[in-house]
Amino acid sequence: MDKKLRSAVIAGNWKMNKTPAEASALIGEMIPLVKDADCDVVLCVPFVDLDAAMNAAKGSNIKIGAQNCHFEKSGAFTGEISADMLSSMGVEYVIVGHSERRTYFGDTDVTVGKRLKAALDAGLVGILCVGEYLEQRKQGITAELCAMQVKIALQGLTAEKLKNVIIAYEPVWAIGTGETATSDQAEEVCAVIRETVEAMFGKASADAITIQYGGSMNAKNADELLSKYNVDGGLIGGASLKAADFAAIVSAASK
Ligand code: PGA
Repeated sequence: MDKKLRSAVIAGNWKMNKTPAEASALIGEMIPLVKDADCDVVLCVPFVDLDAAMNAAKGSNIKIGAQNCHFEKSGAFTGEISADMLSSMGVEYVIVGHSERRTYFGDTDVTVGKRLKAALDAGLVGILCVGEYLEQRKQGITAELCAMQVKIALQGLTAEKLKNVIIAYEPVWAIGTGETATSDQAEEVCAVIRETVEAMFGKASADAITIQYGGSMNAKNADELLSKYNVDGGLIGGASLKAADFAAIVSAASK
């Protein structure tokens, strides 16, 4: 990555793991390990852990995010949480469009775009996830598909709003499988994403936007993935549940 142009962001995605007490304990373990990070460090935790996580992270360089938000401000949406609810409690980041939301909970490119806009309107930083299924990679449509996902989600945003967007390229076949994209595969798609942003918002916006790779990034492969020009960080699932592993990735991004 080019640290002169943009900042590295390592974000953990805890998914449906950890009780509030466990979240506090894990963050307590992480704080001393990541305190000298030369990158942004974020943990996206379950909704019910947000309060405990923010308290545990207070005074440290760890920022807290959620894993989803609804696109309406309020209303009859049982089980959903609005972006305003998150920002009102001090949450700073939110993931939108994770492939598990798209696959299991019916999120579409259009609803992901709406969730992203709601997040930005509420003053949150949105981590927009895009990525292809293995079948789609085999069909040779990865670049087109990821570009399309980005285009639909970013449609209608201003360049100013885009400053609060991070894009995470997460090939679905690499998530939680232990099978990581090669650094060249990651670089290739992250470059396509940056070109897509450039076509929509111009070069300055494209140069400035942080694009993460996600999908079985771990303490061993982080160095190589993060050495690529267009890979500006990582969205980390499994390895973010272990303090030492997560800290090793943060160190790799701090070089
Ligand atoms: P993983 O998950 O690191 O466990 O593959 C990444 C993600 O789903 O964001």
